Amino acid sequence: MISIKSPREIELMKHAGHINYLTHEELKKHLKPGITTAELDKIAYAFITKNDCTPSCLNYEGFPKSICISINDEVVHGIPGKRKLKNHDVVSIDFGVKYKGYHSDAARTYIIGNASQEIEDLVKNTEEALYQGLSKIKAGAKIGDISHAIETYAHNHGLSVVEELVGHGVGTNLHEEPDVPNYGAENKGIILKEGMTIAVEPMLNLGRKEICYTDQDDWVIVTEDGYPSAHFEHTVLVTKDGYVILTGE
Ligand code: MF3
Ligand code: CO
Repeated sequence: MISIKSPREIELMKHAGHINYLTHEELKKHLKPGITTAELDKIAYAFITKNDCTPSCLNYEGFPKSICISINDEVVHGIPGKRKLKNHDVVSIDFGVKYKGYHSDAARTYIIGNASQEIEDLVKNTEEALYQGLSKIKAGAKIGDISHAIETYAHNHGLSVVEELVGHGVGTNLHEEPDVPNYGAENKGIILKEGMTIAVEPMLNLGRKEICYTDQDDWVIVTEDGYPSAHFEHTVLVTKDGYVILTGE
């Protein structure tokens, strides 16, 4: 069942999305060499709870922290800890925020200081791939239209698409139906309807698409070839003529 949100539910999702956005903005201020990922997690927890929300990731299937921080070859679900950010790091920050039972989900990738042109392009093009996918959204379009736009943009820019992890519906659960893959054919999959809320989240790799777990913990997923990965995500509301980003400015 894909839920259609009522106007009241949409208001709650908008608020959850707004606090998610503000939390990302707060974290951005602290992204400097030397800060640990645990310190960033603490900042996020304090900010989210101060705003009468709860971090969706905390205790989600046993995830031990409030946000995911994944660095360089880490694709997603990095657990914050003692690791310090350093110049040239590619840092993906991903988390959900819940307000009165409704979740929002958003991710961004930053470069600490500077990096090589190809890594700068990886990050810029992953963000643009997200917007290319979003641009296809409106009532009557299909999930595959989003997937295809992301995949096409990624491949045209020499990036590979992680296939095992996908975007998703979002609402009273952080992950709901439908899946939103970042690859696939146009005009396939379920039809989008006004009032659906979905999280679109391309994870693109500079090298090959394959990913794997490590022996570090049961969470972090890395690229098999060790090349960096980037991740951008927004939660959006499907409207009659397009979409509204709930986790944006
Ligand atoms: N945006 C992430 C996702 O959709 C949020 C994960 S929270 C975690 O997978 F707890 F599972 F890490
Ligand atoms: Co997500």
